[in-house]
Amino acid sequence: MSLTSRHILLGVTGSIAAYKTAELIRLLRQQHAEVQVVMTASATAFITPLTLQTLSGHAVKTQLLDADAELSMDHIHLARWADSLLIAPASANIIGKLAHGLADDLLSTLYLAATCPVYLAPAMNQAMWHHAAVQANVQKLRTHGVHFIGPERGEQACGDNGLGRMSAPELICASLFPNKATPRATALDLTGISVLISAGPTREPIDPVRYISNRSSGKMGYALAQAAYEAGASVTLVSGPVAMSPLQHIKMIYVETAAEMFTEVLNEAPHHAIYIGAAAVADYCPAKQTAYKLKKTSTETQLLLEPTRDILASVAALEPPPFTVGFAAETDNLEDYAKIKLQQKKLNMIAANWVGKKTGGFDSDDNALNVYWHAGQQHLPMQPKTQLAPALLSLIYTVFTTTPPHTSPLTT
Ligand code: PMT
Repeated sequence: MSLTSRHILLGVTGSIAAYKTAELIRLLRQQHAEVQVVMTASATAFITPLTLQTLSGHAVKTQLLDADAELSMDHIHLARWADSLLIAPASANIIGKLAHGLADDLLSTLYLAATCPVYLAPAMNQAMWHHAAVQANVQKLRTHGVHFIGPERGEQACGDNGLGRMSAPELICASLFPNKATPRATALDLTGISVLISAGPTREPIDPVRYISNRSSGKMGYALAQAAYEAGASVTLVSGPVAMSPLQHIKMIYVETAAEMFTEVLNEAPHHAIYIGAAAVADYCPAKQTAYKLKKTSTETQLLLEPTRDILASVAALEPPPFTVGFAAETDNLEDYAKIKLQQKKLNMIAANWVGKKTGGFDSDDNALNVYWHAGQQHLPMQPKTQLAPALLSLIYTVFTTTPPHTSPLTT
């Protein structure tokens, strides 16, 4: 990633996360970007203009009505100078002002004057982020072409835990200029969105040499992870044992059993905006695993199985849950069974596929999906999984951005 000769106009607004902009400027400059900083009045209460001036190497601008600067129409020159306008942290207040075209200070005026791409890295209390007014403003700005980076889940300065933390400076830097070596698979833009995906089968050991598993190859989940990365998302892939090569630029976590997948997915889920459960997780595992190889006998034998914990339902039950998308693999009654899973596991969406047929589903390069959510459904026809994956992600993104937080199929 290189930011060589890029002009970044960095807006800083009033949030405790403003302290992270010092590191952000350092990272941008390390990549040879030129950075000019504009601060709102409340941002100066959190970090001094002098600090950001020293780090950026340019005088920090704070005033719209600065008689000297405006003699030369400074706000217009700044807007023309910028290759990208990045506002980090972006408070609920600035998001509201931009969404409504208000221009009562230098930063909001610059937003209207700038014709370059605009990136916002929101930072606020999780309840504020989820408020319908803020979400409506975010949707409005997305339709204006504004790119959102984050926010992330986690502990907040106010003691709350949830979605609202500003993304790490490294992620903002990477999101601003995604790897140009990787062509975009689709027009889909998932910049700043963190996506967690599970893929492949699990293996449930019977003894040290035998296990119960299924025919999943991991192709569907890996295709989704690659497509999400190419659309600009930061991606974590929890993979069961497969013959696929590790994916570049994606956080890979390898597991074997359903219990291990449960632990890793539940650890990661609170830090991601979207979870897609494409793994074929074993529904049952042997109640006991012997430490030695079971000996063959000439009589019948029985294996006692116990249910595994449901990863998907547990992710959907998190407080707050990520936007949760399940898969349903069925040999019959595809629509009915998928809709039951959507309801019972309290998912946002479910992608249903036939398995056990001659084409599609398990261990095939192609697949077709019937996708259901509480307000609609769509058929994605048979095609290579590498093409199906971006099509499914586009659909997920559309529903994700139009679904109010905490909405489950049972509550609407
Ligand atoms: O890997 P490929 O060869 O490319 O094949 C792709 C696929 C057929 C495996 C994939 O498209 C698919 O359908 N994945 C889900 C398979 C599955 O386990 O379906 P299910 O209907 O049994 O489970 C429903 C959902 O619950 C799935 O999202 C599954 O990940 C989840 N689950 C199931 C059991 C469990 N203990 N925890 C879970 O999270």
